[in-house]
Amino acid sequence: MARRAAEPRWLELRLPSLPENVGVARVAVAAFAAQLPFTLSELEEIKVAVSEAVTNAVVHGYGHGQGVVTVRAGHDGHRLWVEVADSGRGIADIEQARQPAFSTDPERMGMGFAFMEAFMDQVDVESVPGAGTVVRLYKRPRPQEGTRLPDEPAAAAGPADPGEGLRDPAASHREAAAGRSEGTGRAGPAASR
Ligand SMILES: Nc1ncnc2c1ncn2[C@@H]1O[C@H](COP(=O)(O)OP(=O)(O)OP(=O)(O)O)[C@@H](O)[C@H]1O
Ligand SMILES: [Mg+2]
Repeated sequence: MARRAAEPRWLELRLPSLPENVGVARVAVAAFAAQLPFTLSELEEIKVAVSEAVTNAVVHGYGHGQGVVTVRAGHDGHRLWVEVADSGRGIADIEQARQPAFSTDPERMGMGFAFMEAFMDQVDVESVPGAGTVVRLYKRPRPQEGTRLPDEPAAAAGPADPGEGLRDPAASHREAAAGRSEGTGRAGPAASR
């Protein structure tokens, strides 16, 4: 049993670039991620981040045209990684694209990368104009109140962090993201696109 737990786990999906496949990807990755001890809130965060990355592939990578979006995920028992890749038009200036409120589409909010950053521990973007984009997302389950990682010091950590386990710093982001969490839909005027 112990040996099985140490084996790497992974998932790979190849999806036609269609808005309805955003939901397929988010549900599949969330089900996969549930192999790690993520809370429901964390699984929701992962869903939003995956939705944003896949939506970007569909909307920007392929400009709503035909293409394949590849979604891979894996974990080593401790940390989840998710990769969303397209072979679309690519990003000319990645740093600029990652700025909150930057969008090349005036009708969009430019918040996709900001949500990915807020909800995941690490976001890496590689892109080649004319060739495609790969977004990699990483997240570890947050230690919950009353649990401790084996190599963590005992509770004497004391007042340095009194609210650990009680705060939910992502809650306000999640509320903001709530209207964005299905498909390529958007709260507000963009929702009908
Ligand atoms: N896969 C991709 N292929 C090509 N360009 C991309 C891709 N992902 C993001 N971009 C570029 O990065 C910009 C910022 O992306 P981001 O998701 O932050 O905002 P948005 O998609 O424009 O708006 P929103 O996500 O709020 O609808 C996009 O406007 C687009 O120009
Ligand atoms: Mg986006």
